[in-house]
Amino acid sequence: MLFPAGSWPTDQEDYPAEAPVTTLDLADILDSGLPNPTIQKPKADTTSAAWTLLDEHQRNRAADASLRSRIADRNLMSRTILVTGGAGYIGSHTVVALLERGHDVVIVDNLSNSSPKAIDAIEAITGRSVVFHEVDLTDFEALGTVFEQHPIEAVVHFAGLKAVGESVEKPLWYYRTNLVSTMNLLEQMAAHDVWELVFSSSATVYGDPEVLPIPETAKTSTTNPYGHTKLIIEEICRDLAASDKRWSFSLLRYFNPIGAHRSGELGEDPRGIPNNLVPYVMQVAVGRRDQLEVFGGDWDTHDGSGVRDYIHVVDLAMGHLAALENLEPGCEPFNLGTGTGSSVLEIIKTTENVTGASIPYEIVGRRDGDISTSLADPTKANEKLDWRADRSLDVMLADSWNWQSKHPMGFDDQAE
Ligand code: NAD
Ligand code: UFG
Repeated sequence: MLFPAGSWPTDQEDYPAEAPVTTLDLADILDSGLPNPTIQKPKADTTSAAWTLLDEHQRNRAADASLRSRIADRNLMSRTILVTGGAGYIGSHTVVALLERGHDVVIVDNLSNSSPKAIDAIEAITGRSVVFHEVDLTDFEALGTVFEQHPIEAVVHFAGLKAVGESVEKPLWYYRTNLVSTMNLLEQMAAHDVWELVFSSSATVYGDPEVLPIPETAKTSTTNPYGHTKLIIEEICRDLAASDKRWSFSLLRYFNPIGAHRSGELGEDPRGIPNNLVPYVMQVAVGRRDQLEVFGGDWDTHDGSGVRDYIHVVDLAMGHLAALENLEPGCEPFNLGTGTGSSVLEIIKTTENVTGASIPYEIVGRRDGDISTSLADPTKANEKLDWRADRSLDVMLADSWNWQSKHPMGFDDQAE
């Protein structure tokens, strides 16, 4: 295999992470003479492809540092940020980015879809501690005590349920969890004089898009209760911003987040059978599942399989940092995607190249509610947030594999 378990070349600068960046910029990093002497050589059974990915990783780190630096130039203040759902997949990666930027973080999570080991991993990666409250956001009083205990200045809101199929089966649970949680949060924010929110929305709000790539101005519509909760929350934020000029909202419409932290210590850890493509493919690669079902081979795409805009979760995390630091009064949606599409068959092929494992698959019928193609127009975020998702599909899948091969059973195997 190209990168067997544990053979992924590591970059010691990245894990533990560097100290919060304040004045470093791209030129400083390049001047420091990359490749950096602290980088370990790939182990014997890796090939030049490993070095190619490592080179790209160097560029990615430089770009991240450059973004942190540009942000720091504008606003040197470190703040206390409440992150709801911060133990989850995207939340945990965003907490790492916030801590590395120098912010203090308070996580609220009920651990219904995450592990406390994610918080240990965040602290190991960053070398910083995080305040964690195991609280359910539907509990208004408990949430209020969190606001009373900490000088919270802004909120990044990830907490919620996210499985489309499950939302069709249990709509009330989805409406209660996602809507009541968000309304409690907004009421507690106003009661404690906190007016800045970055919200996890989704490309699902575009339904079956009429225009590709999709701009933020595209028509919105959804076909399932999960998607409805995202659209309703977007409307609530818009109405609040119109009612009171103190509110600043950024609605981040994610396309398809994949990948993992470079260390392989944080990643996506779905419970049960994965709904999403890449976690499923990784479980086939690591031997937990026999084969993948490809949902439809007759879509109107270049190879007949569905096309999506996959984005590295660390690029997505950096997008939150950029959104937070660029919040303005009002309510603005932003697409967070790369603008490049990949098909299911391309994901399979690239995973085989990166892992060396074979991914057996069978093309079956289309999945209910699926669409042919979803592709972001990220121009608005590129320009207004000064942010760009640069990591390649190779790096996304190599990082997913690094996490999966180190932790075949997810966080639960760490005690072994
Ligand atoms: P995740 O399930 O890994 O993280 C969500 C976290 O919220 C979990 O840690 C869970 O325990 C917590 N949580 C759920 N209900 C809660 C409650 N009532 N009180 C407190 N904590 C609660 O999911 P993720 O993939 O990290 O997604 C984060 C957000 O991004 C979600 O709002 C999701 O809808 C949105 N989103 C995700 C994707 C994706 O593909 N992963 C795409 C678009 C949008
Ligand atoms: N797919 C398969 N086999 C699988 C799983 C998925 O062929 O076992 C295909 C799908 O048909 C689709 C592509 O892989 O063509 C991606 O599917 P995902 O389930 O990974 O992602 P979706 O684009 O369907 O949905 C995801 C989240 C939604 C979110 C949306 C946009 O699950 O919640 O991205 O952000 F709204």
